[in-house]
Amino acid sequence: MPVISGPTDFNQEQLYVDLRATFGHNIFLKCEGFNFAGSIKLKAATEMVEAAERDGTLKPGSVLVESSSGNLGVALSMIAASRGYRFVCVTDPRCNLATRRMMEALGSRVHIVSEPDATGGYLAARINYVRALCASDEKYVWLNQYSNPANWRSHYRTTAPAIAREFPHLDVLFVGAGTTGTLMGCARYFREWHPSVRIVAVDAVGSVTFGGPPGRRMIPGLGTNVRPPMLDESYVDDVVRVEEPDTVRACHRLARSGFMFGGSTGTVVSGATRWLDEHDGRDLTTVAIAPDLGERYLDTVYQTNWLQDLYGDDILDEDVVSVGSHAA
Ligand SMILES: Cc1ncc(COP(=O)(O)O)c(C=O)c1O
Repeated sequence: MPVISGPTDFNQEQLYVDLRATFGHNIFLKCEGFNFAGSIKLKAATEMVEAAERDGTLKPGSVLVESSSGNLGVALSMIAASRGYRFVCVTDPRCNLATRRMMEALGSRVHIVSEPDATGGYLAARINYVRALCASDEKYVWLNQYSNPANWRSHYRTTAPAIAREFPHLDVLFVGAGTTGTLMGCARYFREWHPSVRIVAVDAVGSVTFGGPPGRRMIPGLGTNVRPPMLDESYVDDVVRVEEPDTVRACHRLARSGFMFGGSTGTVVSGATRWLDEHDGRDLTTVAIAPDLGERYLDTVYQTNWLQDLYGDDILDEDVVSVGSHAA
């Protein structure tokens, strides 16, 4: 019986969903949403805070500030509340209402940057606000998830070895790319310890991470309109880019089999199935990482009006329905 005294003390690291029945491929989905922050970002947040405490950047009276599309903000809100820091989360209108409410309930201040930057995205605008805040008073501490090595190191230390332990004969690992902390931590670990494992990055169409023009992206978590400074492509064997309607369909297909995951999981699963179709992956053992669960996306990915306004009336086509009736 796990008994904990701090909210970061529990994280379910050993749970996988077998997707063979639903998607017809050997994909084992590693669930990272079972902790008190509800997402994989608990790991990066904990490692970054502890590193900053160790090197003296973060001390009593400090105010944490971070740009986040939501999940890191929730994790930092939780850690700040449990360790006695204040926290300001700088986000944008795509941050889910439930996520924002959660941060506020944990005692954080949420600042929403409403004007996009010149590329049409919000990241540069968010970072400008963070920089201005830090320049205004030295009590503000920006951990900077985009370039902080503790972000990828958390996955090098925990996520990747946990996968390697459970899947000693793994062929391919599919990882979504946001800041690329998860991707780079896993890729560095496998290159060093199990170099035969292929690392396939999954990104959203409209993200500039692996080149390509910026475009509209409405589902938070993966992709960016500013190239991630942490990314070293020499560690990545292949890249798959997924259109948002395919992300949505994968999410609904999972939901119709009883598993509600977040938007980025739909992207990763959709990218993984396409990659396996294109590479004759029938005999391959693969793991894909699911960063969070579905409840935070009830007003977006799982709301018919939101979907139809953005992607058209046919977005939830017979493919999803047939999975539902097949399962019945
Ligand atoms: C839901 C979700 N998926 C994926 C990611 C991407 O993870 P990373 O920043 O490690 O690339 C994030 C990061 O915030 C996220 O919130």
